[in-house]
Amino acid sequence: MPGKQRNKKTMKEIYIIGAGDFGKEIADTIHAINRVKQTFHIVGYIDDDNSRKGETINDLEIIGDTDEFIRISRRRAEGFAKTEKSDISKDRTILPSAVISVADPIVKSRLARKLDGHAVWENIIHPTASISPYATFGQGIVIQSFVYAAPNAMIENHAHVNVLSSVGHDVRVGEFSSVMVQSALSGFSTLGQCAYIATGVTILPGIHIGSNTHVGAGSVVTKDLPDDVVAYGSPCKAIRRNR
Ligand SMILES: CC(C)(COP(=O)(O)OP(=O)(O)OC[C@H]1O[C@@H](n2cnc3c(N)ncnc32)[C@H](O)[C@@H]1OP(=O)(O)O)[C@@H](O)C(=O)NCCC(=O)NCCS
Repeated sequence: MPGKQRNKKTMKEIYIIGAGDFGKEIADTIHAINRVKQTFHIVGYIDDDNSRKGETINDLEIIGDTDEFIRISRRRAEGFAKTEKSDISKDRTILPSAVISVADPIVKSRLARKLDGHAVWENIIHPTASISPYATFGQGIVIQSFVYAAPNAMIENHAHVNVLSSVGHDVRVGEFSSVMVQSALSGFSTLGQCAYIATGVTILPGIHIGSNTHVGAGSVVTKDLPDDVVAYGSPCKAIRRNR
C-alpha cells in the first residue's frame, strides 16, 4: 500500500494542507515520487474543517487544522533548539515541510500567508513531468503527471499545474495560480497572481490573463483578459466580475 512508507528516517516529513479532492491527487503524486526515490513521508492532512479531524483518506489521517499545524511547527522548533542548539531564525530546515493542496487561488494565498514562517514549502513534481532545465520555479509549486514545462517557463510560488497541461516557452504562471487538467498555455503568455485556468483551456501566444481572473472550461483565449473577471467561451469573453 502506498500509505505504508518505508525508510521514514531518511525521508522528509511532509504535511498536505487541504484534505479535499486535490489533496488526494497530491498524495498520489508524492507516492509516485517515492516510487522513484524514497523522498517524503506524508504525516497526514491539515484541514480547517474541524469536523473532519481524525478522518482517514486513503490511509492518511486529517491531523488537525492550520492552528494545530502552527503548534506542531513551534513544538518542532523548540525540540530542535533544546537538542541541537539550532537557531530557527537562521535554520529553516527545522520547520516541517508542507504543500498546499487547494485549487482555489484566493484560499491558497490565505493559507500560504497564514503558514509562512511555520513551514518549508516543498515543490511536488510528478516524475512523468517533462521539465526543461531552463524552466524556473518558486516554492510550494505542484506539477502533476505528464505536464510539460518548456524553456524559460516561470512557475511562481504555490502555482499548480495539473495533469497533461503544457506551459509553453517563456510563459509566466503567476503566484497562487491554478491551471487545471489538459490546458495549453502558449509561448509568452502570462497569468497574473491568483489566476484560475479551468480544464481544457487554450491560451494563444503572448496573451495576458489578469490577476484573480477565472477562465472557464474549454475556452480559447484570443485576447488579453483584465484582472478580476470570470471569462469563458471560444473566443473567450469576460462575462462578469469575479467576486
Ligand atoms: C468559470 C466557470 C466557473 C463559470 O461558471 P459559472 O459562472 O458558474 O457559470 P454558470 O454555471 O452559472 O453558467 C452560466 C451560463 O454560462 C454557461 N457556461 C458556464 N461555463 C461555461 C464554459 N466554460 N463555456 C461555455 N459556457 C459556459 C452555462 O452553460 C450557462 O449557460 P445558460 O445560462 O445558457 O444555462 C466554469 O465555466 C468553469 O470552468 N468551472 C471550472 C471547471 C473545472 O475545470 N474544474 C476543474 C476540475 S479538476
